[in-house]
Amino acid sequence: MRNTRLLNALNMQEVDSTPVWVMRQAGRYLPEYRKIRSEVKDFMTLCKTPDLACEVTVQPLKRFDLDAAILFSDILTIPEAMGLDLAFVSGEGPVFASTVRSQRDVEQLGCPDPNDELGYVMDAIQHVKHELNNSVPLIGFSGSPWTLATYMVEGRGSKQFAEIRKMLYSSPEILHNLLEKLAQSVTHYLKAQIDVGVDVVMLFDSWGGVLTPQTYQAFSLQYMTQIISSIKAYSDVPIILFTKGGGLWLNEIVGAGSQGVGIDWTIPMKQAKKIIGDRACIQGNLDPAVLYGSVTQIEMEVQRILQEFGSGNGHIFNLGHGIYPDVDPDNVSAMISAIRKFSCKK
Ligand code: CP3
Repeated sequence: MRNTRLLNALNMQEVDSTPVWVMRQAGRYLPEYRKIRSEVKDFMTLCKTPDLACEVTVQPLKRFDLDAAILFSDILTIPEAMGLDLAFVSGEGPVFASTVRSQRDVEQLGCPDPNDELGYVMDAIQHVKHELNNSVPLIGFSGSPWTLATYMVEGRGSKQFAEIRKMLYSSPEILHNLLEKLAQSVTHYLKAQIDVGVDVVMLFDSWGGVLTPQTYQAFSLQYMTQIISSIKAYSDVPIILFTKGGGLWLNEIVGAGSQGVGIDWTIPMKQAKKIIGDRACIQGNLDPAVLYGSVTQIEMEVQRILQEFGSGNGHIFNLGHGIYPDVDPDNVSAMISAIRKFSCKK
């Protein structure tokens, strides 16, 4: 691997500059992405066509000085492969044709074979690895069981998560059965991604933050801990665990054993570093809205985060959540230049 900054940071080793990549770095804020996207029927077609998925994965690397690629795909590939029909409705986001609400619904879900139903993801990874030719590491990923379950139970994206939180209190055993099935599917999926060459895997727990401390432990973290243990027993490929809204639970999150921990923008980097210490590499934590600001504001915020992290190893610069679709790509360049300018040369 020619650029080892990301892997070094995850191994708590020295780097010449803080590594950086951007959640949702391949996406609608890039005109070159919108062009390809407009030429296909829908978003899942893009994910399922390995040539195109590969092309959009590498687009941001051609434009920016990034230290990693993330596979272009989606977390909802698993529920779809388990048998739920998925559509991306414009202006509304993902919508499933049916929901999972009863024990019978859970029983009807398949446990997908990653090399069969999800074979298109493995094909895309192989294309990307070939295209990258060991220039930068490739990040594979999955949604966490809890986050996937929110879409499956609600049937779509949600703000209140009323149905799944109702299920959590009224029929916890059904929800546990669903999460157990998802944990198995996610483990197989990530192992298969590792088999075909991803260099890092990330677990997106985008909605873990809507839980209480106790229910986060029982319905999200517990299953992610199982997945992480199983991956660590299988391979040395480092894992990044990101619970959006999990800032208050970082001590417990580090206990799950991943090499990297993602943080959003609601916790000061200084405080995260104090809690995590050198037990894990910290990824984050620029507010994605800062990219709407001026170059001076972007530079100030980048510098502040780097200073708060301070000396020592184990920081991956990133946004605290995905980049917004109407951000000016030049502001991403400004952010990266600022990271190169201000990150400590060790
Ligand atoms: O980061 C990357 O560049 C890699 C690709 C990637 C996508 N989705 C592409 C995508 C990744 C890592 C994801 C993860 C994902 N998908 C998450 C977890 C991360 C997070 O943001 O919390 C979640 C919750 C989803 C579910 C999802 N997919 C939603 C809610 C939507 C619609 C809303 C939206 O932002 O558009 C998607 C669609 C999606 N996934 C798009 C992209 C580029 C936009 C679809 C389009 O281009 O038409």
